[in-house]
Amino acid sequence: MTFLSSLLFFSIVLLAIFSTVFGLEEVLAFQENRQETRPFGVYSALKYTVLDGFFRQSDDGTDDRTYDPLTDSFGLQYSGPRRWERFVEHISFLNENAPVDVSYKVLYLARHGQGHHNVAEHHFGNEAWECYWAMKGNNGTYHWGPDARLTEKGISEVHRTRDAWKSQIPFGVPLPQIHFVSPLSRSLSTLVETWKTIALDPPRPLVNELLRETLSLHYGDHRSPASELRERYPEVYFPMDGSFPEEDPLWNYHRESLQGRNGRIKYAMDNMIAASNETYISMTSHSGVINSTLVALGHRPYNLQTAGMIPVVVKVERDRGGLQKWFQPNNPSLKNVDDSPRVEERVICDGYPPVNVSGLYESGMGVWPWS
Ligand SMILES: *[C@@H]1O[C@H](CO)[C@@H](O)[C@H](O)[C@H]1NC(C)=O
Ligand SMILES: *[C@@H]1O[C@H](CO)[C@@H](O)[C@H](O)[C@H]1NC(C)=O
Ligand SMILES: *[C@@H]1O[C@H](CO)[C@@H](O)[C@H](O)[C@H]1NC(C)=O
Ligand SMILES: *[C@@H]1O[C@H](CO)[C@@H](O)[C@H](O)[C@H]1NC(C)=O
Repeated sequence: MTFLSSLLFFSIVLLAIFSTVFGLEEVLAFQENRQETRPFGVYSALKYTVLDGFFRQSDDGTDDRTYDPLTDSFGLQYSGPRRWERFVEHISFLNENAPVDVSYKVLYLARHGQGHHNVAEHHFGNEAWECYWAMKGNNGTYHWGPDARLTEKGISEVHRTRDAWKSQIPFGVPLPQIHFVSPLSRSLSTLVETWKTIALDPPRPLVNELLRETLSLHYGDHRSPASELRERYPEVYFPMDGSFPEEDPLWNYHRESLQGRNGRIKYAMDNMIAASNETYISMTSHSGVINSTLVALGHRPYNLQTAGMIPVVVKVERDRGGLQKWFQPNNPSLKNVDDSPRVEERVICDGYPPVNVSGLYESGMGVWPWS
């Protein structure tokens, strides 16, 4: 190693250490903020701009209910056998000619395959699900919580996505250089089932506690203990620095509002992107998380089917507006987070039995500012 490359290597290692520590503090601060009055997490924000013209999903004319990108090179607008080579050349050209504080990334946003909670929600209907059953883990015969797993159908959906990747490899599709994944089993299994026969570790799959579905008391969204996940997913890296505690720190929370979720995911995205020098970045998560990711990127509305994947080309810049706040209650009368509601057993919809919940509800979602 030359002196210069050792220097570069050690700066990168230092940066990695700092960002890990920063992430840890933020997660811990988040937990403590539920009890204390100290300021909410403040972080330096990134600005994203979606580049249209690369993938059909960013075109207003593409109907997400009927379009199947898995049979259409994931939606790539270039055609012919050199399509992915031309794409990679274009992205490299953009990065090589970008100012120092600008970079271009290709995000592969993947949704988990069908889980048992998806089947249960469909069985009970959305209302009965949101009003009662989501807070339970089973109905006596069928189990979806804690930590809903993939169904057989879900696994075959994921294999279809895996096969779509495999079909593009001969044409030079750029594979993910890093994976970020939600800590919930359905996303972890989706990641592993998609990639283990192609390439996994490397590139390293990193769990991000904040990439989980909308915060709530939905029992299917209660993650398994860290030790169990480490054993079940040996290919996946779970933070060992204390930021990924044995018991799920984020369940048992108020039902999150759309605004709250958008703030959380923007924060998580900025941290992940700022800490990655990679250009091709995969994130495996949930429909709600992907919705908030697309909102953060400024992408047009797009819904993914289970095991779907949407590629997005984005320009990333520092947000000159500087610092942003995460989970800042915008209600001036709410001086203390302690004023936020506590978990209690109550009826949340007329005609349904009581469930353990907290916070206020509007059409199944929480009410800002309680996240
Ligand atoms: C329990 O739920 C499953 C699907 O979620 C359904 O097929 C089954 O009929 C339900 N059983 C009862 C006793 O309601
Ligand atoms: C990112 O940095 C690491 C060193 O921390 C290096 O090994 C890797 O090749 C870099 N990746 C890219 C895509 O530049
Ligand atoms: C995200 O979800 C909201 C609420 O369902 C919807 O109005 C919005 O269009 C979605 N945004 C994207 C980018 O998909
Ligand atoms: C609510 O939580 C308490 C304490 O964990 C428990 O004893 C009770 O059975 C729960 N109630 C319901 C309706 O699930």
